Amino acid sequence: MIKVLFVCLGNICRSPMAEAVFRHLVKERGLDGQIAVDSAGTGSWHVGEPPHEGTRRILNENAIDYSGIRARQVGRRDLAEFDYIIAMDAANLSDLRRMAGPNSAAVIARLLDFVPDREKDDVPDPYYTGNFAEVYDLVRSGCEHLLDTIVRNHQLTPRERT
Ligand code: 4NP
Repeated sequence: MIKVLFVCLGNICRSPMAEAVFRHLVKERGLDGQIAVDSAGTGSWHVGEPPHEGTRRILNENAIDYSGIRARQVGRRDLAEFDYIIAMDAANLSDLRRMAGPNSAAVIARLLDFVPDREKDDVPDPYYTGNFAEVYDLVRSGCEHLLDTIVRNHQLTPRERT
């Protein structure tokens, strides 16, 4: 099982959106059972809360299920457990790199690093900008390219449907 963790600051806006979108894409491509998805925040303010109303609204508009998602804080154990730890912005990335230390085997990268023709490197924080539609477009594109990369790296093939 390949384990993917999305990380932002609060774990209520961007990373739960990425978790839900990625889970949706994994299922759509018949790869559920081969890839596990989760999200967490570097901060602890919102632990236990469901995704932000703006995130829930844009996911509903795009018919993407987010059931069961609750905020939690990233911990040192996550750094050892997950294969891909995907930050939303440069601040999350540097916090994760600091937590991981030099010996981590995980791929620790920013989501938009996987988008070849990107215009931005960071997913802007909609908690402050209010622009959840822009974040959805960036997250969707990042998740599609990340999934392509994982499929390629691990030579995954869709499970036979019965
Ligand atoms: P997120 O947005 O990192 O995309 O979940 C934020 C949510 C809450 C806070 C900051 C960013 N906050 O400071 O409470």
